[in-house]
Amino acid sequence: MDLRLSTGPRALLSLVILIIVKLPTVRMAYNIGTGIADTTGPIAEIVFMGYAKIDQKGAGLHLRTFARSYIIDDSEERFVFVSVESAMIGHDVRAMVIRKLQEKYGDLYSEKNVMISATHTHSSPGGYNLYMLFDLTTFGFIKQSFNALVNGIFVVRIFGIVLSNYGSHYTLPGKLFVGHGEVLDANINRSPMAYLNNPQFERDKYNYDVDKSMTQLQFIAANGHPMGVINWFAVHPTSMNNTNRLVSSDNVGYAAVLFEKYINKDTPIGKGDFVAAFASSNLGDVSPNTRGPKCEFSGDECSSSYTCPGKNEMCFASGLKTVKYF
Ligand SMILES: *[C@@H]1O[C@H](CO)[C@@H](O)[C@H](O)[C@H]1NC(C)=O
Repeated sequence: MDLRLSTGPRALLSLVILIIVKLPTVRMAYNIGTGIADTTGPIAEIVFMGYAKIDQKGAGLHLRTFARSYIIDDSEERFVFVSVESAMIGHDVRAMVIRKLQEKYGDLYSEKNVMISATHTHSSPGGYNLYMLFDLTTFGFIKQSFNALVNGIFVVRIFGIVLSNYGSHYTLPGKLFVGHGEVLDANINRSPMAYLNNPQFERDKYNYDVDKSMTQLQFIAANGHPMGVINWFAVHPTSMNNTNRLVSSDNVGYAAVLFEKYINKDTPIGKGDFVAAFASSNLGDVSPNTRGPKCEFSGDECSSSYTCPGKNEMCFASGLKTVKYF
């Protein structure tokens, strides 16, 4: 209901009706659960999924990849959201996870209430999708990639394999809070010229050529203890470029690790109780490489066709070099 569209008594009446209708369903608390498990697959010899570059094979590890899971239960319905540090999630990974859940918990979990989302990192091993196009660069199915994902997602502590302080897949009474904000200087449009082909009236609706808004869902236990967050900000996890051969959860994975370290202090990465997912959203044409495309050696601006004419150098984009490793 948009009150700005109606005026006077009608608006007031609608508001009263809205309050009366809404009041009985207002809940003070949900039952919520959070968990994290390692999904790092084979780190050597397997082509990464993302850039679809056949010689971009794993040759080591930069940042481990994790699955982070959240249960929201309002005592009538249960919903599970899992964010996995992977390029994408195929139908078969999800089907296998749901099958394993059902073997253990019956019909509590199904395709109706389990959502699995991939962060879209471009630096993790491929070969798990069981679709020809997606598994082409790895020359077919890679069992280790598939199992690492399925087991990682399934073994997440809320599903009861490893007990957390909160105890198996059970949930704690808690509250959810949603925050919104704008983050400038963290993403750019990777095809600004293509964007200009959108009709003027449509472009006039937006301040920027990419979405700068950030949304964060916060999971807070009834005793005030922070249990986790899910953060959505539109950006491709492509700070690691297509020459990288170290398995990595990339920019959003690094953000997750830093946030978790901030709350969990000295607990080893991936073992703490506070779980921070930086999940994928409307990141389609959105790049983290905010310096924009530049010529490789001269540092000059690229031409309008993203080339460096007359010189033997490439045109590629990068971000600011401010990364601090821990
Ligand atoms: C990729 O990143 C590395 C490390 O920052 C850099 O040395 C290299 O020039 C980049 N190459 C491309 C093609 O983006």
